[in-house]
Amino acid sequence: MTARVRKAVIPAAGLGTRFLPATKALPKEMLPVVDKPAIQYVVEESVSADLTDVLMIIGRNKNAISNHFDRVTELELNLQKKGDTQKLERVVKSQELADIYYLRQGDPKGLGHAVARARAHVNNEPFAVLLGDDLIDARDPLLSTMIAEQEKRDATIIALMEVEPDQIHLYGAAEVEATDSEDVVKVTGLVEKPATEDAPSNLAIIGRYVLKPEVFDILEHTEPGKGGEIQLTDALQEMAADDDVAGGVYGVIFRGRRYDTGDRLDYIKAIVQLAMDRDDLGPALKPWLKDFTDNID
Ligand code: UTP
Repeated sequence: MTARVRKAVIPAAGLGTRFLPATKALPKEMLPVVDKPAIQYVVEESVSADLTDVLMIIGRNKNAISNHFDRVTELELNLQKKGDTQKLERVVKSQELADIYYLRQGDPKGLGHAVARARAHVNNEPFAVLLGDDLIDARDPLLSTMIAEQEKRDATIIALMEVEPDQIHLYGAAEVEATDSEDVVKVTGLVEKPATEDAPSNLAIIGRYVLKPEVFDILEHTEPGKGGEIQLTDALQEMAADDDVAGGVYGVIFRGRRYDTGDRLDYIKAIVQLAMDRDDLGPALKPWLKDFTDNID
């Protein structure tokens, strides 16, 4: 019997250089997507998959994140006095979502290094990793499918998404073999940000993982890779290369809606798409957007 996945780790300590200067004083995970910071969507996703124990790996400007999930008594009192229950509910929701723990990464030495910091909190259990700037639409569940696959296969599970071949250099790419299930592949190799001609497939790693704890031992000896950073992909490659290490690596192919809010163009698209689907904003946004696009040459 394998241990159940109970804990989520959210790395949010990257420098976010693509978003400078907005990220000089604010982590990119705190940038608002319509009216919630990106990281709140990610915590909500974790809770929807029954993972209410959430460890955030934070960097500089950490206070913005912890303050967001904390109580702000004077704000609550003010809204109470005004009888504005709707806004009050929204404020309270962000602070009652989950049991959130914080750990500093220290120097941002890469995603692999950030995940390695979670060892003492996670211990010897399989655990989920959700990147704090990568949003999966709540209507297209992914994490619960990955957790079920982890339990079924007793292996490490990554999320994969088909991208255009000219985009694969922005992601980790997977070499795969088919399994008995159409949406699950066996991962036989992984390469971080390959040139299009070197990519083993156009299946890109996206920001959800369900990892076996053996990853911590591997990360301890993972040398800096692409960009001089300790890459999670390199540690996963070692797990994929040898099924004896921890049961190998499988990929769940995600075909739903995903928004990479760490990228400026995708961030803008995310706001428009999510606002469009909302009852309070969509009806006014839609005709405006139609009119706006009609006037673009
Ligand atoms: P990115 O690859 O998006 O890097 O990190 P970045 O440094 O944050 O952003 P840019 O490229 O400079 O704009 C992927 C995820 O890993 C986290 C980030 O916060 C993000 O959620 N991360 C990355 C860490 O927590 N620590 C690191 O050292 C690096």
